[in-house]
Amino acid sequence: MSEQPAIGGKSFTAVAINCAAKAGEWIKTKLGNYTSLSQKYSAQDLVTEVDKGSEKMIRNLIMTHFPDHSFLGEEGVEPGPEASAKALQGVRGAEYLWIVDPVDGTTNFVHGFPFFSVSIALAHKGEVMVGVVYDPMRDELFVAEKGKGAYVHGRRMSVSQEDTLRDSLIATGFPPDEAFARPMNLKGLQALVPQVRNIRSSGSAALHMAYVAAGRLSGFWEFGLNAWDLAAGALLVKESGGTVTDTLGNPYDLGIRNVVASNGRIHDQFLGELKKADAAG
Ligand code: IPD
Ligand code: CA
Ligand code: CA
Repeated sequence: MSEQPAIGGKSFTAVAINCAAKAGEWIKTKLGNYTSLSQKYSAQDLVTEVDKGSEKMIRNLIMTHFPDHSFLGEEGVEPGPEASAKALQGVRGAEYLWIVDPVDGTTNFVHGFPFFSVSIALAHKGEVMVGVVYDPMRDELFVAEKGKGAYVHGRRMSVSQEDTLRDSLIATGFPPDEAFARPMNLKGLQALVPQVRNIRSSGSAALHMAYVAAGRLSGFWEFGLNAWDLAAGALLVKESGGTVTDTLGNPYDLGIRNVVASNGRIHDQFLGELKKADAAG
């Protein structure tokens, strides 16, 4: 990737931060205040006008600075795993690709549960170079640049130190896909609950990844996620010294849907338990 800053004098990272902050502030003003709620892929896959408005705001800002870049945003893609895999396929080779989840944790947003985020990543020829996750409710901005570390509020982040699952706090989520992703997650849950210190499921994959990066969680796994849920968070974890693979242990790439992210020290054990339980896919 050419050295930042780029076109218009603004660096890629500055634009990503600006977009996440602006969208996040606006989302916060809409909490308890949205007007249209509809279902997408299933009754558990929700969308509001706030998801769409946030994506539009981010897209317009990015396109103003970088009109030649490609853009993959959740709300521009038909619902369901096949459509999202196809949409990614169409753009993943792009020189510069912005990958955006305008509200990660829509169910929380709808219920007023204050745990949701804006997730923005920039990939260069398929490799994530910038990742920003913003939690507007706590005003926490997580930022990573490839090779330059990851930061929250300007403080360098590092993953946690736990060496065993027994000492680990792990997060997961329950995806809308009933055919494959959810049953796999449930099987993993059954196997891991007795093995770990405890499990959390707080409803934003991007924030869960940011929390692994910040050392607040020892690890996270979930089946059936999309590029926009993971791209920014994967860079945060890696730049904080952690490990991100799929549930079979293959290294992270943009197409991964079944993720295991951890502090690295527990990674093999984590993968091993999923495999043993036939919950690795
Ligand atoms: C969802 C959240 C949730 C995860 C779901 C995702 P959305 O994203 O990340 O934590 O369990 O699988 O779909 O729909 O709120 O952007
Ligand atoms: Ca999401
Ligand atoms: Ca979303």
